[in-house]
Amino acid sequence: MEDSNISDKIREMMAKSVEAKSHAYSPYSHFRVGAALLTDDGQIIEGCNVENASYSLGVCAERCAIFKAVSDGHSNFKAIAVNSDIKDEFTSPCGACRQVIYEFGKDIDVYLVKPDMTYKMVPIKTLLPLGFHGECLNMKKILTD
Ligand code: THU
Repeated sequence: MEDSNISDKIREMMAKSVEAKSHAYSPYSHFRVGAALLTDDGQIIEGCNVENASYSLGVCAERCAIFKAVSDGHSNFKAIAVNSDIKDEFTSPCGACRQVIYEFGKDIDVYLVKPDMTYKMVPIKTLLPLGFHGECLNMKKILTD
């Protein structure tokens, strides 16, 4: 929780995850989530949750940020921050978002940020132990027809 240990970029990323929450489209759950992704070259890309009347079509803030970033040509990420309106607990990415974060680097740092800007950092490989990854697809398999 000691702020002096983190870089200005990390601080900026966390602040932007809070700002991003103001764009959340969450008329069904009324649960706003903001995310901000820090690229290797220092850019910060924001995302928010976007819900749908057909509930399962909604997307979480973390995946929104990642898909925005990748579609703009960024695929190397240092860190991601996630923030909701929960006052006293950290909001942690759902399982699907953990898998999507892991796709882009087992060493990505995930910052869980409370509205008062207190935070906890957990590496993605801790949030998703034994995650599925691209190399699995090329591993030796049993013979199939
Ligand atoms: N949500 C996120 O955006 N990120 C998470 O990691 C957890 C859940 C969203 C999805 C849905 O719009 C709302 O929060 C309630 O589940």
